[in-house]
Amino acid sequence: MQNDSFLLEKLEVREQDLALRSLKKQNDRIDFCSNDYLGLARNKAFQKEINQEVARNLYAHGSTGSRLISGNHPLFEKTEIKIARFHHAEEALIFNSGYDANVGLISAIAGRGDAIVYDNLIHASLRDGIRLSLATAYSFLHNDMRNLEEKLKRLKRRSFVVVESVYSMDGDEAPLEELISLCNRYEASLIVDEAHATGVIGEKGEGLVQQLGIERECFARIHTFGKALGVHGAVVLGSKTLKQYLINYARTLIYTTALPPSDVAAISVAYDYFPKMKEERKHLQQLISHFQRINLPFGKLPSNTPIQILIVPDNEEVLALANTLQRKGLDIKAILSPTVPKGKERLRITLHSFNTFEDIQRLIVCLQNY
Ligand SMILES: Cc1ncc(COP(=O)(O)O)c(C=O)c1O
Repeated sequence: MQNDSFLLEKLEVREQDLALRSLKKQNDRIDFCSNDYLGLARNKAFQKEINQEVARNLYAHGSTGSRLISGNHPLFEKTEIKIARFHHAEEALIFNSGYDANVGLISAIAGRGDAIVYDNLIHASLRDGIRLSLATAYSFLHNDMRNLEEKLKRLKRRSFVVVESVYSMDGDEAPLEELISLCNRYEASLIVDEAHATGVIGEKGEGLVQQLGIERECFARIHTFGKALGVHGAVVLGSKTLKQYLINYARTLIYTTALPPSDVAAISVAYDYFPKMKEERKHLQQLISHFQRINLPFGKLPSNTPIQILIVPDNEEVLALANTLQRKGLDIKAILSPTVPKGKERLRITLHSFNTFEDIQRLIVCLQNY
């Protein structure tokens, strides 16, 4: 028997803090927690279209190797051209996941002597990319342009600014136009993770960067496919040179088995599908506005996105509330410290195009009577 008691000690710390994580079974409660913003992962017509496409072409479920060795099925190139066109980018490069895209991109482009300045609320995948890079990293206060400028002013080296267009734990948006002007002023390169904007923001779900018409001003954009697009994988958008560089230096692209052709086909079908889902985006926006207007006995963060946050300080408090909602048939998860800072524990409520006003009403009544 291997001695793993040193692991138990760390798990016990988590348990004492009421922060022990475990894998949860899927359930039939009303979904207020998944990233399936447009309901595509549960959309039978969409699933059927993917399955038919895969069956018609007998696309394999294995890719046989890295894209640099044997795994670069012709569908990759076709799909990357389609995605680049849709997002008004020079080039697109598909990665196995958003995690891989972020880690691969950031760790590859920023080297020793460079600086990375990042919003202190960015996702763990971007942070891990920063940790793996040899650059010096500085964080700035969330969405605080003055604080960012103070950091940029002092830098005398090549610098990258890393942000999300929609923040996954707060649901608010980055001031991208201000970020662009600061980056221009201090000659920094802007990297925008659009994971939670993809499919949701913009007339066709193209994301916040395109909605603002600033795609040419970004050094790189990341769109993920596992959220509103209902499939799996991610893409980095940027210049031809950036793509060539990543093919040469991004370790999460080079040293991993490529996505199977069946997954790439699913991504391609998703890009035919979600731009047309205008009614779904409209309904989702109505739910968001409705939820924002309602008075609740908890601190609600302002948010125009499907991510709605109620601050309920203390792990025990927020867990008790989440458990009550779960018992009432609502699938809502508590976000505990240390995932968020102590005192900022929260309920993270995600709204979807398949949620109804009745679903929201049920949630509101539960919260008001808690
Ligand atoms: C902002 C952000 N970026 C990247 C990722 C990672 O994407 P994926 O789930 O495709 O690995 C996530 C997902 O949790 C995310 O919220």
